[in-house]
Amino acid sequence: MTLPRIIAIDGPAASGKSTLGCKLAEYLGYLFFDTGIMYRAVTWAAIQQGLNLDDETAITALAERIQIDVLPPSLGDGRDYDVLVDGEDVTWPIRKVEIDANVSQVSAYRGVRLAMTQQQRRIGSRGKVVMVGRDIGTVVLPEADLKIFLTASASERARRRYEELLARGEPESYEQILEGLRRRDQIDSNREVAPLRKAEDAITIDSDGLTIDQVFEKARALTE
Ligand code: CDP
Repeated sequence: MTLPRIIAIDGPAASGKSTLGCKLAEYLGYLFFDTGIMYRAVTWAAIQQGLNLDDETAITALAERIQIDVLPPSLGDGRDYDVLVDGEDVTWPIRKVEIDANVSQVSAYRGVRLAMTQQQRRIGSRGKVVMVGRDIGTVVLPEADLKIFLTASASERARRRYEELLARGEPESYEQILEGLRRRDQIDSNREVAPLRKAEDAITIDSDGLTIDQVFEKARALTE
């Protein structure tokens, strides 16, 4: 059987999509593209420029204007790649709690999604790509040959994010993380444009109680 040309991975916050997507892309020799980076970058730029996050018109204009680049890692500080906004390194700033708290509002704006989705389609439709997000299998690349919907219980996802933040030296309370994830999922799932949902032809992998390698093995088997 031929390998899938385009792999889409969607799912709720902190379900392990990036970890799985990155490993799968490495294994197949494909490009890994994490679309969450783009929404985080727009949110970072909006806060940086002091924009009112309720101002949809201003945020949309910003999303259309800024240049987001993802490049090979320039530093060995645990990053998998560099994220640049108009040339400025924002790899770690876009992972801050303040971005987590505001990204779902920004990513719900129709104009923001349009600007980001166009770029994602241009990159994804070339093929040999693993693209990760919320709406990849449903909206961005509905033609994907393999669609995975990666889930895990909210408590398991909060526990993983808690450990991730602790390892990065930015600890936050478990309760706050859990509350933040639930809020983000709620907004992402109920927005009007491209809400988070499983594509009809997606295969669900529930990663509760599974190690990273076990999840990878399940996904790898689906590529055969
Ligand atoms: O890593 P984590 O699952 O916490 O989040 P992410 O994948 O970096 O996505 C951050 C936020 O961007 C999500 O909560 C969504 O609001 C938004 N997003 C989206 O709307 N559509 C995508 N394709 C990817 C992310």
